[in-house]
Amino acid sequence: MSASAETGGRLRLGVNIDHVATIRNARGGAFPDPVRAAVLAEKAGADGITAHLREDRRHIRDADIEAIMAAISVPLNFEMAATAEMQKIALRHTPHAVCIVPERREERTTEGGLEVANDENRLRDFLVPLAEAGCRVSIFIAADQRQIEAAARIGAPVIELHTGAYCEAHAEGDEAARDAELAKLREMASFAHSLGLEVHAGHGLTYETVSPVAAFPEVRELNIGHFLVGEAIFSGLDSAIRRMRDLMDRARGMEGVA
Ligand code: PXP
Repeated sequence: MSASAETGGRLRLGVNIDHVATIRNARGGAFPDPVRAAVLAEKAGADGITAHLREDRRHIRDADIEAIMAAISVPLNFEMAATAEMQKIALRHTPHAVCIVPERREERTTEGGLEVANDENRLRDFLVPLAEAGCRVSIFIAADQRQIEAAARIGAPVIELHTGAYCEAHAEGDEAARDAELAKLREMASFAHSLGLEVHAGHGLTYETVSPVAAFPEVRELNIGHFLVGEAIFSGLDSAIRRMRDLMDRARGMEGVA
C-alpha cells in the first residue's frame, strides 16, 4: 500500500520555525536562533521542520536553510513560491519536501491557497525538476474540489489543505462558519485521498482547533508554527510542542503510543 493510500495511524507533526526568525529579524543580530528552535523542536517530537523562504526574506533567510538542514536529522519541508529563484535554491539544497505556497495576491485562490486551476501548465513544468531531484512536492491549496483536481492533474503527490478559514471562524466565535469550514475540509480530505493524493493540513492551528483536523483519517501530516512559537513565550517551545503532539495523538486515539 502506498503512503498516499494509508489512512489513520500516527499523524506527523511538522513544526514551522519561521516566526523565531521573525523575532530575530525585529532586532537584527542572531537571537533567537531558528536553528536552535529547529533542534529543540526535533527533541520535543517534531517529525519534521518546516521553513518558508519568502521572496522578501522577512523571516527565514538563505543561510538559515543550510544551517537548519545541517543541524537536524528529521526532514526539512521547504516552503516556497513557484518562482525560478526559489526553484534554484530548492535544487541546490534538495530538501526532503518542497511545499509550493502562494505569496502574491494573484497567486491565491479566494480562500488563500495556491491558484492551481488557472496556472496548470506552468505549475506542471515547475514541479518536474523538483520531483526529479527527489523532493516530495506538495501544493498548499484551499479545500476546493477544483483546485484539488488540478493538483492531481499536474502530478503533485501531496496536497496541504489550508486550515486558515476554519481557524479564523473559530477565533471569531462564528460556530456556523467554523463547522461549515470543518465539513469542507473533511469532505475535501476524503476527496483528495480518493484521487490518490497524500493529504496534509495546516495554517493557523492552535490547541483549540487542532483536534478535529487531526481526527481526519486521511490527513497524514500537520504543519504548525505561529501558535507554537507564540505559546513558547509562556510555556517554552518544548512544552508547547509536546502538548500539541499529545492533542494530535489523542484525536487519533493514539495517546501513549510511541
Ligand atoms: N502550512 C503552510 C503551507 C504554511 O505556509 C504555513 C505558514 O504560513 C503553515 C502551514 C503554518 O501556519 P501557522 O504558522 O499559522 O501555524
